[in-house]
Amino acid sequence: MKFILFLIFFISSSIQAASGELSCGSIECDEFSADTTNLSSLQDGLTTYMNYCYGCHSLKYSRYNRISKDLNIPIDMYQENLIFDGSKPGQLMNISMNSKDAVEWIGAKPPDLTLEARIRKPNWIYTYLRKFYPDDSRPYGVNNEVYYNVSMPHVLEDLQANLSETQFNEMIYNLTNFMVYVSDPSANERKRIGVYVLLFLLLFTSFAYLTYREFKKDLK
Ligand code: HEC
Repeated sequence: MKFILFLIFFISSSIQAASGELSCGSIECDEFSADTTNLSSLQDGLTTYMNYCYGCHSLKYSRYNRISKDLNIPIDMYQENLIFDGSKPGQLMNISMNSKDAVEWIGAKPPDLTLEARIRKPNWIYTYLRKFYPDDSRPYGVNNEVYYNVSMPHVLEDLQANLSETQFNEMIYNLTNFMVYVSDPSANERKRIGVYVLLFLLLFTSFAYLTYREFKKDLK
């Protein structure tokens, strides 16, 4: 009985997940389809991340040199332009802000975002970053439709004001795309190897079948 209940629960939650209906706070999430093979998009997202997010949000399960390799950015160029605190390329991407200071300065601790795209899902992030709105009752004068009463300031406010809507959406697309990549950096490699594994299995099955036929002859 327990097993049947589990099965029903499992199937219904898979259907829900597959239907893609993700709620983003009080609104519905906007569509987002990641493309982590698009290196220029990922490079653009990384640049935005390092300049506008990394001051508060570490990527502590990732290393600078891994990103530089995966995104095809020469390490010296990466070091010159995207490492601001003298860290070594092989180091984990920790930041210097500690939680006590963060709570004092900002009112909440900015979480590490390495796995955010897996915890919250990409459509959530894509929608969240585009749905800040003015609200004088909040400490930073902004609120968010997806994350009501969020403590994060609208760090991209100036950019949003100066870019066209299409340009801003594209920037957030690239930023979210980068966060999808960083949450699972070996995904593309895994898919590539997966094809070979399946081809091997297919080949192996045909040989196994031929062997089976050969053995069967002797049994007759
Ligand atoms: C001044 C520091 C600061 C900066 C800069 C900043 N954030 Fe945040 N962010 C926060 C804080 C604090 C929270 C936690 C909010 C809360 O708990 O109310 C947060 C929360 C978030 C969350 C939701 C986390 C969760 O799952 O609860 C996401 C996603 C996020 N930030 C993305 C970004 C991105 C992307 C950037 C760069 C464009 C950025 N943040 C820049 C301070 C910052």
